[in-house]
Amino acid sequence: MDLIPKDSFLAWAATHGIRRDPRLPSMDELVYAGDASDQSRFWMPPPVVSDLLNFLNAALDSASTSGPFYFYRRAWSSWHYGDDGSVRNQIVDRMVGTAGVPPDFLGALRLSRSEWREILTIISAHYVFAWSVNEDLFIIPEDASCILMVSHHGELRGTFPSENNLTKFVSAMSAKGFDLPEEVPDPTFKIPPWMRGAALPNEPTQRPDSFSDFTIRPSIPAHAEAVWHCLDSVARERRHIAMVEPPTLEEVHSFLGTLADRGVIQFVALAGSRVVGWCDVTRKPIEGFRHSCVLGMGLLQAYRRRGLGSALLRAVLAEAQLQGLSRIELEVYASNQPAIALYQRFGFVREGIKRSARILDGQVEDILCMALLLPPP
Ligand SMILES: CC(C)(COP(=O)(O)OP(=O)(O)OC[C@H]1O[C@@H](n2cnc3c(N)ncnc32)[C@H](O)[C@@H]1OP(=O)(O)O)[C@@H](O)C(=O)NCCC(=O)NCCS
Repeated sequence: MDLIPKDSFLAWAATHGIRRDPRLPSMDELVYAGDASDQSRFWMPPPVVSDLLNFLNAALDSASTSGPFYFYRRAWSSWHYGDDGSVRNQIVDRMVGTAGVPPDFLGALRLSRSEWREILTIISAHYVFAWSVNEDLFIIPEDASCILMVSHHGELRGTFPSENNLTKFVSAMSAKGFDLPEEVPDPTFKIPPWMRGAALPNEPTQRPDSFSDFTIRPSIPAHAEAVWHCLDSVARERRHIAMVEPPTLEEVHSFLGTLADRGVIQFVALAGSRVVGWCDVTRKPIEGFRHSCVLGMGLLQAYRRRGLGSALLRAVLAEAQLQGLSRIELEVYASNQPAIALYQRFGFVREGIKRSARILDGQVEDILCMALLLPPP
């Protein structure tokens, strides 16, 4: 196994027409130069987990019979999380460690075909246990004929530099018994254009609450009661936000009427006319800190995992940037993996930890301090 520093790997990739997607600078999404968006396909592994190795062998063989292969994790997240990671990440650590990846290594790996046991161990660990975007694993054969990605949604994605490469890979997979799927892997999956027209019983746009039913708006005093209801509902879960009792309805009404005076930018997500979530940032008032703000957000339980958290965050960050804010801070409970994954996806970086910061209902919780630096608009 060769350990390749990030810069050397990116230089190698550039000589093969591969670059970081300029639309997703913090995600280190590797794409071919030029728009190859219609040259991606995905495959689903067999439903029986013990058949996974056949599927992976088929994909590696279809990519290159000779190898070697490069491996890297999205956003160059560490190959090892350490023992304070989630149980799933600890298991990935063990498997990746067994395959010989040193702790704290952040770059790319290069493995030859003869190291097939290590290759399959590394890919299987990510396939079976990955749960967030940071565990997405990219695999590129040395001839750069495709970029494969093992995604935390459970699919294998292939991106190709040309129609010819794509067709060859699709036929090779098909010959090995792995045809292109006809359904998306789960309802949160963004349906790619090439699947349109296929019979898709799970297509998200066919659900009663399709994304087009939702709007993201700056909040106004008329939203007070609904915002209060959201706060009340999320606070009473007693898990995700500091507040366990909401403020009074009058306080929320007065707050929404004075957002600008308080240095608050707040957006709400509306399902029809009903507020189902909020996201806000509050500018720090003290001289020397006015470029910074503190972020908070939440959605009613039934409206999570539909892209609304991302849509709210995107709207608030865009407005914050326009208003000259350049540092967005937040605190999140260490057990709140959905929120941490969302923040990491937007480029928030973990800056520190407040140990045993909350003791509630007998549960001791650490708080992670995270922040995002925004460039000027
Ligand atoms: C955190 C929260 C706002 C996320 O909003 P959401 O609408 O569910 O998130 P999205 O659907 O936009 O998901 C965006 C990304 O977040 C991550 N994510 C969201 N929910 C997740 C879950 N249950 N498990 C793992 N990752 C998750 C994923 O990376 C996801 O991207 P993907 O769908 O491509 O995998 C929402 O879960 C929530 O309101 N939680 C309770 C309140 C809270 O925790 N507030 C934050 C306090 S700091």
